Amino acid sequence: MTDFLALAQTIAPKLVAWRRDFHQHPELSFQEFRTAEIVARHLDALGAEVTTGVGKTGVVGVIEGNGPGPVVLLRFDMDALPVNEATGLPFASQHPGIMHACGHDGHTAIGMGVAEMLSQTRDAWPGAVKFLFQPAEEEAGGARATIRDGVLENPRPDAAFALHLWNQFPLGMLVVQPGPLMAASDHFVIVITGRGGHGAVPEETIDAVLVGIEAANALHHIVSRNISPHDTAVLSIGSFRAGKAFNVIAEEVIMEGTLRTFDLSVRERLIGRMEEVLAGVTAMHGASYRFEVIENEYAPPVINDERMTAIAYKAARRVVAEEQITQITPIMVAEDMSEILNRVPGCYIMLGAEPEDGARGPHHNPRFDINEDALPIAAAVMASVAVEFLNSSTAGESAAIPMKETS
Ligand code: NI
Repeated sequence: MTDFLALAQTIAPKLVAWRRDFHQHPELSFQEFRTAEIVARHLDALGAEVTTGVGKTGVVGVIEGNGPGPVVLLRFDMDALPVNEATGLPFASQHPGIMHACGHDGHTAIGMGVAEMLSQTRDAWPGAVKFLFQPAEEEAGGARATIRDGVLENPRPDAAFALHLWNQFPLGMLVVQPGPLMAASDHFVIVITGRGGHGAVPEETIDAVLVGIEAANALHHIVSRNISPHDTAVLSIGSFRAGKAFNVIAEEVIMEGTLRTFDLSVRERLIGRMEEVLAGVTAMHGASYRFEVIENEYAPPVINDERMTAIAYKAARRVVAEEQITQITPIMVAEDMSEILNRVPGCYIMLGAEPEDGARGPHHNPRFDINEDALPIAAAVMASVAVEFLNSSTAGESAAIPMKETS
């Protein structure tokens, strides 16, 4: 097989230049117009069959190999975050309040590099590679929008892979593991309605703030008392809004929060208990409530397919030493690649990209940065994964993945 690491090193300066250009011009979810245009032009120049406007701002490019064969989907996300950059980097964001604070600028550059390498080597592999440059991963609506627009049809992919740079893992560390990797994510909204009134006449009111506080407290007991210690769940209330005046008892409280789970039955139990707790607490005080789990913001858990993970592992071994490939305790962060992995077997890979002087800010932080030396490694891994899959026999060839201690 092509030595994709050597090939990726030859285009490393381009990867860095692309990444820095995207970093200077970050675009929010579903607003990735400039980014998409650069990607589409690049794919077109490589001779790919390009479709734009997939899921509003997504770009799809298909590169055919040397003959008929399977189709592999490689997905790269393009969006930035509503964060005000404070890195002081010479190529910092030129748009106040918008920043590539998760490394998706790097992902887009990596995808362009992978497309370039695979188009150069298309005589060496069969089938086709379908590139998806996805919008709106951060808002968790992007993957679904591209699926709605048919990204998983014509041609239908037989496998799907994606990679995330992670600046809190050492440079070059690869996470390739079967099974659960990232949690399901939910956004919930609770509105509690009491009866507002004069702060000096509480007996004529139903104090929504007090009911809300009791409800918030009770909700936090669910994970510790109703979910088995062997299962994993998070319930966090991130927003609690009520009242406008110091001497007025508030009529309404609005709480918003997130749920993280790995197992559908745990999620159902959590949501069911929330409903019961809210009904009980509000009934006790004569208040009422509305509870909504926003269905179109749900992202399922990332669960890697065993066979595809074995293929990814074999490909990764062509790029990095065995000691660099590891497994982790699944993380509670969510990622909408799961929408694709729910429909197509695949594997989500993480690659360490810790800056030389250490990570000054974690993901989504104003001081977030990545180590650009990770870019050619990532491009080499993704190109190798694609070719490894396309060349693997349909008989289900698989390499054993050595089990590692989880960290
Ligand atoms: Ni991200």
